[in-house]
Amino acid sequence: MIYDNHNRPITYLRLAVTDRCNLRCFYCMPEEGIKYLPKHQVLTYEEMERVVRVLARLGVQKVRITGGEPFVRAGLMDFLHRLAATDGLTDISLTTNGVLTAPHIADLAALGIRSVNLSLDTLDRERFRKITRRDELPAVLKTLDGLLSAGIQTKINAVVMDGQNTQDLIPLSDLTRTLPVDVRFIEEMPFNGEGSHYPILNWTHKRIVDEIRTRFPDLQKLPDPPFSTSANYQIPGHQGTIGVIAAFSRTFCGTCNRIRLTAQGTLKTCLYDNGVLDVRALLRSGAADDELTAAFLQAFAHRPLNGFEAERHSMQTGGSVSESMSTIGG
Ligand code: GTP
Ligand code: 5AD
Ligand code: SF4
Repeated sequence: MIYDNHNRPITYLRLAVTDRCNLRCFYCMPEEGIKYLPKHQVLTYEEMERVVRVLARLGVQKVRITGGEPFVRAGLMDFLHRLAATDGLTDISLTTNGVLTAPHIADLAALGIRSVNLSLDTLDRERFRKITRRDELPAVLKTLDGLLSAGIQTKINAVVMDGQNTQDLIPLSDLTRTLPVDVRFIEEMPFNGEGSHYPILNWTHKRIVDEIRTRFPDLQKLPDPPFSTSANYQIPGHQGTIGVIAAFSRTFCGTCNRIRLTAQGTLKTCLYDNGVLDVRALLRSGAADDELTAAFLQAFAHRPLNGFEAERHSMQTGGSVSESMSTIGG
């Protein structure tokens, strides 16, 4: 196991396999989309496999595949099959918007993918169309149904947006009554690809919980697993759970075990850094595994203790974020 300079173990890689997406969620990217990377700038699957192999030797056990939307990239399932054979990896999971996912569910289950996080901000077709700028709710619901039928642990990610989907807090929470699903409400973060300034967060963790309690007053706090991004709750008698990811009002930095690799092969050791290592350049310059290992160790020895606080300070003093979540991979 490798520990960073603040004694946090690095065990979890978020791997963005593409920056492309078939939706246009307004909190993630502008209507016209972001400027996509030319193909040769995106890591090949072979390059990603190699990076994962090296990182797994250093103690990374969990890989979460993100994007963009992972299923937009051709060949994803073959890649997952090869990834599943990597020594040392105990958990491969996936975050998807669910539009193209349904046909692959049986294969995902056969591969041993235990958990899928599904982005779904509303159960109302018109609101879905407004938020994502695409009319794809039926496809996503089909995926939700398929995942649960296949016995894959499923978390719904719903970004809570003032004036957009707060009326969905109760219906989404109510899904947990009969479905074994974890519904997680996420505070909106300033990564919409358009240079947001410090936002006023109207829907904080506390307000989200208060709103759910208006309908479900006996909502109970559950213990949170280590490294959990969400504070977890349950309505007594319900099958599923409810979580709140206080992505903006609270920091997870103290227990952060995760690193990120963007689609273009940039290593981020914090969600808020601008990339600390050009892994693609190293790979393409013919670096041997030892050199890759040394470069990763060097990066892990310089992780910021609290990237979020620095970012908050910078935004409060006039800075802005122009990145899209689609290039970071969430
Ligand atoms: P698990 O692997 O199940 O813990 O999933 P996860 O919650 O980390 O991943 P998911 O892809 O479902 O992301 C859910 C939300 O958490 C997204 O909005 C992410 O951007 C946010 N998130 C994930 N990691 C971090 C982090 O390190 N810091 C912050 N602030 N938000 C994060
Ligand atoms: N704020 C919070 N969450 C976001 N996501 C995308 N953009 C944002 C944002 N600006 C979420 C998506 C997806 C996860 C990976 O990140 O809903 O589920
Ligand atoms: Fe696509 Fe996810 Fe961004 Fe929506 S939030 S546009 S589904 S990458």
